[in-house]
Amino acid sequence: MNRRIGVLISGRGSNLQALIDATRDGRLDASIVVVISNQEHAAGLQRAREAGIEALCLSHRGWPSRDAYDRALVRELTERNVGLVCLAGFMLMVGASMLEAFPHAIVNIHPSLLPSFPGVDAQRQALEHGVKMTGVTVHFVTADLDAGPIIVQRAVPVLDSDTAESLAARILVEEHRLYPEAVALVLDDGWRLDGRRFVRTGDVS
Ligand code: GRF
Repeated sequence: MNRRIGVLISGRGSNLQALIDATRDGRLDASIVVVISNQEHAAGLQRAREAGIEALCLSHRGWPSRDAYDRALVRELTERNVGLVCLAGFMLMVGASMLEAFPHAIVNIHPSLLPSFPGVDAQRQALEHGVKMTGVTVHFVTADLDAGPIIVQRAVPVLDSDTAESLAARILVEEHRLYPEAVALVLDDGWRLDGRRFVRTGDVS
């Protein structure tokens, strides 16, 4: 797969930072060629610029339709010959035009063990439900929210003493480890989809 990555963000950008760090220290053999935020003041834009990566704001507001916005995203990404799109705290649904332009080439990270607790505030949802184990999922993006084929997951225990904040912080540590690993796996081509199942086809002993 083409190893040129585009990252879409809406805010803090700590997962973006984890991807940047992994490309720098050799854990991820890829280049982040553009970072696009739908929010002008996203801190992640600054992180990208500090790393010497092109960073732009493309607001989702003011377009004649949601599809027009999606087509603008496709244009920015294809102009830069992006092969894989990584969502990293991008708070919008990805529309049909993006999905058609990047088939099985848009991934997302979510702070729960999907299919449990999709959507916003996944860590609080898990805490309030009372699960003893939650975690992180990296999955392909489809038209349904947080429901695409799962690439990798990692578990994080819920402690009796946890608040939503302490749990989110422990999950975030795992997110930062897992996202670069998952992206490397997808770029390595040694996999196929068997229905919804992401199956490794390489040398797995
Ligand atoms: C992360 O918890 C990610 O799993 C979720 O949104 C949050 C983004 O955080 N999709 P950051 O912007 O990467 O710091």
